Amino acid sequence: MTKKILILPGDGIGPEVMGEVRRVLDWFQQKRGLKMDIAEDIVGGIAFDKNGTPLAAETLAKAQDADAVLLGAVGGPKWASVAYDKRPEAGLLALRKELGLFANLRPAIVFDALIDASTLKADVVRGLDIMILRELTGGVYFGEPRGIFDMPDGQRRGINTQVYTTSEIHRIARVAFELARQRRNKVCSCEKANVMESGLLWREEVTKLHAAEFKDVELTHMYADNCAMQLLRAPSQFDVILTDNLFGDVLSDEAAMLTGSLGMLPSASLGAPDAKGQRKAMYEPIHGSAPDIAGKGVANPLASILSAAMMFRYSFGWAAEADQLETAVKNVLNAGIRTADIAAKGQKTVGTVAMGDAVIEALNRLS
Ligand code: IPM
Ligand code: MG
Repeated sequence: MTKKILILPGDGIGPEVMGEVRRVLDWFQQKRGLKMDIAEDIVGGIAFDKNGTPLAAETLAKAQDADAVLLGAVGGPKWASVAYDKRPEAGLLALRKELGLFANLRPAIVFDALIDASTLKADVVRGLDIMILRELTGGVYFGEPRGIFDMPDGQRRGINTQVYTTSEIHRIARVAFELARQRRNKVCSCEKANVMESGLLWREEVTKLHAAEFKDVELTHMYADNCAMQLLRAPSQFDVILTDNLFGDVLSDEAAMLTGSLGMLPSASLGAPDAKGQRKAMYEPIHGSAPDIAGKGVANPLASILSAAMMFRYSFGWAAEADQLETAVKNVLNAGIRTADIAAKGQKTVGTVAMGDAVIEALNRLS
C-alpha cells in the first residue's frame, strides 16, 4: 500500500521546485491519507562535487528500490568542462539506462488560461493536447561505437552510432498504440526512413506490429523533419507522436514550446512491466536546471507538481488524486496567478513558494 518515492532534486532550480512538490505530497498524505514513504538523495552536478560521480551506486540502488523516482533537473555551466561520463547529464542518462526506462511520455498541453503565452496564433494551438512518446534507452544516445578518435593524417574523427533492434522498436511502439487507445486513437511514427536504415527498420517494424495487434488504431508515418514543420503549421493533427531518442529530444522541445512555457510540462519515463504489472518509473519536469534563475526563488514549480500528478496516475493508480491535482493547477492559472515565465507583459508575478501556496490553497478548496 505504502508507495516508496525517491526524490532527486538535482541542480539549478531543481531543489526549489522539488521543495514545492514535497509540500504537495505532504498535503496528500495529511488530507487524503495517501501513504508515501519519501526519501531524498543527490544526483547530477551536486553529486559530482560531493562524490566525484553524478550518480553514486547507493543512489542508484535507492532508485532501483523505489516505486517511483521524482527528479528535478541536472546540469549547469559549472560542470561544462567535466568529462562526458562524469557530467551531471551522465547521471540522468545512467538512471534511464539502469532502470530500463525506455518509454518517455512528454505531453504538450495548451492550458486555456495560457493560450497567449504561445508564440503561435491562438487559433493554431487552442485545445492542443499532444503526447510525444520518445524512445529513451537506445539510438544514438547509447549506440556503439562512439568516441573521438585520432586519424593517421592528424585529423580527429567523432563517431556516434544510431542503432535500433526489432525488439526495441516493438516495445516502444506497443506503448504508443496502447496510449493512443486511451486518447484519440492515432499514432504518427516519425523517423528518417528516406536516408537512414535504422529509420527504415523502424517504419517496417512499427507497421508489422500495427498489422498484427493494433489495427483499430490509426497509424501514419512521417519523416521527422516534416513532423517538425507540421508541428508549427497544424499541431492539432497529432495525437501520439512515436519517435526515437534523438528526434524525440528535438521534437519534444519544439512541441513544448507550442504551449508557451517549458515551465508547465511534466514527463514520465517508464520501464517494462514486471510479473506484477509494475513498471520502474521516473517523473521529471521537462525544463532544465535553468542556472540563470537558480536560487532566486522565481522558478515555476508547476511542471514538477504536474509530474507528481503523472506519478499518481501512471505508477500508483491514484487517478482521482491525479485529477484533483491537475484541476488545482488549472484553477490557479484561471485565477491569474503567474510565475514570471508564464506571465503576460505587465502581469503581476509570484515566486516559487507563493505558487506552491496557491496550489495548496486550490487543493484545500477542492476538498
Ligand atoms: C532531455 C534533455 C537530456 C536529453 C539531456 C539533459 C541529457 O535534453 O531530457 O530532453 O538530451 O535527453
Ligand atoms: Mg532535451
